[in-house]
Amino acid sequence: MSKIQAAITGINAYVPDYILTNQELETMVDTNDEWITTRTGIKERHILKGEDQGTSVLGIEAVKGLLAKTNTDPSEIELLICATATPDMQFPDTANLISAATGIKNAFCFDINAACSGFIYALTTGSKFIESGSYKKVIIVGADKMSSIIDYTDRTTCVIFGDGGGAVLLEPATDGLGIIDSLHQSDGDGAQYLYLKAGGSRRPSSAETVAAREHFVYQNGRPVFKAAVAGMSDVVQKIMARNELTNDDIRWLVPHQANMRIIETVSRMADFPLERVMINIQKYGNTTCGTIPICLWEYEDQIKKGDNLILTAFGGGFTWGAIYLKWAI
Ligand code: UT7
Repeated sequence: MSKIQAAITGINAYVPDYILTNQELETMVDTNDEWITTRTGIKERHILKGEDQGTSVLGIEAVKGLLAKTNTDPSEIELLICATATPDMQFPDTANLISAATGIKNAFCFDINAACSGFIYALTTGSKFIESGSYKKVIIVGADKMSSIIDYTDRTTCVIFGDGGGAVLLEPATDGLGIIDSLHQSDGDGAQYLYLKAGGSRRPSSAETVAAREHFVYQNGRPVFKAAVAGMSDVVQKIMARNELTNDDIRWLVPHQANMRIIETVSRMADFPLERVMINIQKYGNTTCGTIPICLWEYEDQIKKGDNLILTAFGGGFTWGAIYLKWAI
């Protein structure tokens, strides 16, 4: 029997309605459209507003649409993994909240937190349950409500992030389509450059941590920028080399959307023309675990069955990686 591979057989995404433009940010912090556009490529980002609205809202909308689009009965789903850095609560996992709200009753569900690399980490993890023959229908969600951990008085971070999420259905394929290879790495020495100082077990939330604004994202942008360029370029080149691919063999490079300058530099280092790189950072900013599924969803009409794609991401931790797959829809 031919090898079982995990194929993406459905894709959907959801972004909330409210659009926070660069012009509105100009009224909130000392910034301007010109700086944001030239330094990051971002023009606007979507924000989830309202009381009691967590990341699960984004995941639920993405999964509901995915089930409808793929004509899948929720009771058939056997595993749901949610990649997120902004879970609704410390526990239970957001994956459980999403499955309960979407009628997914026969699955085991859990979250993965690998910051901005969460979606590709979760995709690789979920694919193993398909490849092993254990499961036939797996959903991978990547979603973040970054506005819940962003300090809107800090111009160095508030211009970058947005809210949004997406979901894919994974099913077995034996025709050579699906996920062919993945390569992931982590380096805990990078933790100091991008993290939440308080709210975890080391430094639980208190009046003091809140007053010091330590429950918001801290980022030292420059070292993260350098490591992101080096890390993503390296794994993209390695995964191509070990699969004997030239860049002409790859139809689409799908990079995490953190900064347009990072995307351009990684594309240049791997010798990909920008016409073959998925880019939508201008509309959504960095939605952390949402960026790659939102890109795939937006570009779905332009991807053909059999196209070779390389997904790549880099995030806090540090975490990074690349996935090589053949599109199956
Ligand atoms: O997705 C997870 C991983 N995260 C990333 O990949 C993010 C990686 N880092 C970056 O994308 C960039 O480092 C940033 C976009 C965060 C910052 O861009 P930069 O070109 O590295 O700027 P910088 O931090 O070196 O700051 C340059 C100047 C500073 O002013 P001085 O010290 O030169 O006077 C900043 O204070 O730009 C200033 N600045 C701003 N000015 C206007 C920083 N943020 C802003 C702003 N508006 N929003």
